[in-house]
Amino acid sequence: MDALLDVRDLAVHYRTAAGPVRAVDGASFTVPAAGIVGLVGESGCGKSTLGRALMGVLPRAASIAAGSAVFEGRDLVTLAPAERRKLLWRRLAFVPQTAMNALDPVQRLSAQMQEVLVERGGLSRAAAGTRAAALFAMVGLEAGRLRDWPHQFSGGMRQRASIALALALNPALLIADEPVTALDVIVQRQILDVMRDLQARLGLAMILVTHDVAVVAYACDRVVVMYAGRVVESGPVRAVLEAPLHPYTMGLMNAFPDLERAGGELVPIEGAPPSLLNPPGGCRFAARCPFAEARCAQDPALVEHAPDHQVACWRAPEAPALRPLASEAATWAR
Ligand SMILES: Nc1ncnc2c1ncn2[C@@H]1O[C@H](COP(=O)(O)OP(=O)(O)OP(=O)(O)O)[C@@H](O)[C@H]1O
Ligand code: SF4
Ligand SMILES: [Mg+2]
Repeated sequence: MDALLDVRDLAVHYRTAAGPVRAVDGASFTVPAAGIVGLVGESGCGKSTLGRALMGVLPRAASIAAGSAVFEGRDLVTLAPAERRKLLWRRLAFVPQTAMNALDPVQRLSAQMQEVLVERGGLSRAAAGTRAAALFAMVGLEAGRLRDWPHQFSGGMRQRASIALALALNPALLIADEPVTALDVIVQRQILDVMRDLQARLGLAMILVTHDVAVVAYACDRVVVMYAGRVVESGPVRAVLEAPLHPYTMGLMNAFPDLERAGGELVPIEGAPPSLLNPPGGCRFAARCPFAEARCAQDPALVEHAPDHQVACWRAPEAPALRPLASEAATWAR
């Protein structure tokens, strides 16, 4: 696989009074040059921190403690800030977790577009106007709405505008953090359809951060499953969702309504992820895993179990036998 982005053992820590919070703690995955990669996991597992680390927009209390993230042949971790800034918008673009954060509330959309297209992209004001209208059309917004302020937009429209803004300078990789989370299901689908359409038309790569497996199933080509700061499973969406190898992935699938399996029983994963202040040794999922054994006290490495399908679980070879058990509520009951 030709990787556009190759993340290896990335660790990102927040400095706190109680000690470092290991929000990302040895995450590895690749993103191909085209297609949508879903980055999925429960709240607090480090998805946004990972996205922000790649973009170089971490809060001041956070820093990259280890690892590499090679994007188009250059390591984003060691790249000089000035060099990294050159990549932002042009090669690497970001839609932060709430669309309102991507938009400046005190500027009309047209002014925000002009700022990116003229100041960063070097377009003339006239060319920027034409390009802004084309970008709005691409995401299904009328050009006339460019005159509006962000607060005049619905949530779905703000998300469309944020995506249009992020794509202004034709980036090779777009990282969209929870782009559909606060929206109702109909609008979710519309936004996901826009993202899929843009991916196909422009041929770029996207990382779609979400806590919802149904969103991954609907919109993504590949999936990276995170748990407690680590990647526990990754691979093509069909392979991972149809035949998950990690018990956490199996549990996540049970916990979300499946569009095709409507009416199926939703089985929550009992308990909560461990604290990332002092994460436990061994497999981080062990305290919640119905299949934990003595050997799970040792940390399972992320290994390629099948071609292009990675997993970090000692019992992955037994996955075909564990899957039917994992689909039963009784297996997860404490
Ligand atoms: N500024 C901060 N200081 C200390 N810890 C933080 C800070 N920001 C985030 N964290 C911690 O880092 C971990 C990862 O947070 P992050 O926001 O990356 O998770 P997430 O997977 O994006 O969650 P969500 O689905 O809720 O958006 C969490 O345990 C969180 O409490
Ligand atoms: S390594 Fe053990 S505890 Fe961890 S997910 Fe696999 S079976 Fe469960
Ligand atoms: Mg987040």
